[in-house]
Amino acid sequence: MADLEVEMGPLRLKNPLIIGAGPSTRNYTNIVKAIEAGSGAVVVRSLHVMSPDEQRQPVRSVFRVFSPENVFGDGLYSFQSTSAPARRIVRGVDPGLGGATRTPTLEQWAEVIARLEPVAGKHGCHLIGSIGWCGTNMPGLDVWEAEARAMTEAGVSALELHTSPSPPCECARFVQVDPDRYLVAPIRAVKRVSSLPVFVKLGVDCCDLIGAARLAQIAGADGVVPTTRWISLDVDVENETEKIWRLPGIGGPWSAPIMCGLIYRLRHGSGGLGSGYASIGQTLASDESVTIPIIPSGGVKTDKEVLQYLLSGASAVQICTQILMEGYGLVPRILEAMEQWMDRRGYSRIEDFCGTVRLHTKETFARELRPHPLVNANLCTGCGRCIECCWNQAPSLREGVSHIERERCEGCQACRYVCPVGAISMKWEEDREE
Ligand SMILES: Cc1cc2nc3c(=O)[nH]c(=O)nc-3n(C[C@H](O)[C@H](O)[C@H](O)COP(=O)(O)O)c2cc1C
Repeated sequence: MADLEVEMGPLRLKNPLIIGAGPSTRNYTNIVKAIEAGSGAVVVRSLHVMSPDEQRQPVRSVFRVFSPENVFGDGLYSFQSTSAPARRIVRGVDPGLGGATRTPTLEQWAEVIARLEPVAGKHGCHLIGSIGWCGTNMPGLDVWEAEARAMTEAGVSALELHTSPSPPCECARFVQVDPDRYLVAPIRAVKRVSSLPVFVKLGVDCCDLIGAARLAQIAGADGVVPTTRWISLDVDVENETEKIWRLPGIGGPWSAPIMCGLIYRLRHGSGGLGSGYASIGQTLASDESVTIPIIPSGGVKTDKEVLQYLLSGASAVQICTQILMEGYGLVPRILEAMEQWMDRRGYSRIEDFCGTVRLHTKETFARELRPHPLVNANLCTGCGRCIECCWNQAPSLREGVSHIERERCEGCQACRYVCPVGAISMKWEEDREE
């Protein structure tokens, strides 16, 4: 039976699935469910500092799936969170309506976490305290320190610094614009008051995620949590409006290949996935890679994305939105599918395949992956769409049927894509040799 244990810096997790901060970790009941589902760790959601404006507003928490027509496919998804759980943590400051209605003060929240610790311990699950973040005001170092102290005393195993909000906003870019203030200073402040491992959440919208992650490592972070959610504008051309509310940002399983690329580049430096320009790549690779754990958050829908992230070099993987859509049962389903995959591939431990994805070179790509189109003469109507789209003039009509000249074909598959009757299929080199 496959062993799913992983090391995430100083922490040992019974499996690499972490339920990320969000509604599914927003209160005692939900966190117990997250623990009992069998996850390796649970990130308890952040407590958000409210701006004075927000404090004057009644705060309702509304979570809603947008783009429902394709949300269960590989399409866009986005969740609306009209209010983050918000409260003022500074003693003596009026928490405002929002803070007073549904969400706890830091002290109350720390008490909840302290009660959860034994439950987590019983299940061999780690609790990670998400701290920081902000509404429209960035938290001062006193806030970072107060939250870090409270969570540490409550007994969490690690801290996650919410330095780049997701749902994304321009705050993610602050990290880029003033990294000393918004990235380095919070990490150092938290490290001063807590001896726990510190993981730093970084939004892709921060511009240079690799540079920011590298800086976080230098500042003392024990791991980075790259998060794929983008500030976006989905335009409805019929109504000439935005289709969905932009604030939650856009994420979803479609972003998994981007996340894999980020993980790989973080692990190997920019040159790791650079083109064939080895000399440039090598120069960057040596001084840009990140050696602390990478714990991606964004786009996981099934075991496939989890395995893709691990193969690319992740130490563990977070899931948020898909849990909201499917419930906590997603955790055992993914774990079971991972075990089956590992058994099938002959892996007994995750470290056997972690970060081992093989990249193609130009040579292997040309040898192994160049397909040749085959035309089914019974289906071909001789419409000529394949002739129109080919920029190598490989197809021509012979007796009213498309014929594709192998020597001219580069294997791009455009002809297959445009054929209206599906008459063109691809034959791969390996198939031919069999
Ligand atoms: C409704 C909602 C609330 C969230 N609240 C938090 C939060 O309190 N702290 C945090 O660090 N991330 C929060 N997130 C971000 C998620 O943890 C996660 O990083 C992001 O949604 C991308 O992962 P996913 O594609 O699996 O959803 C929230 C996400 C959603 C959808």
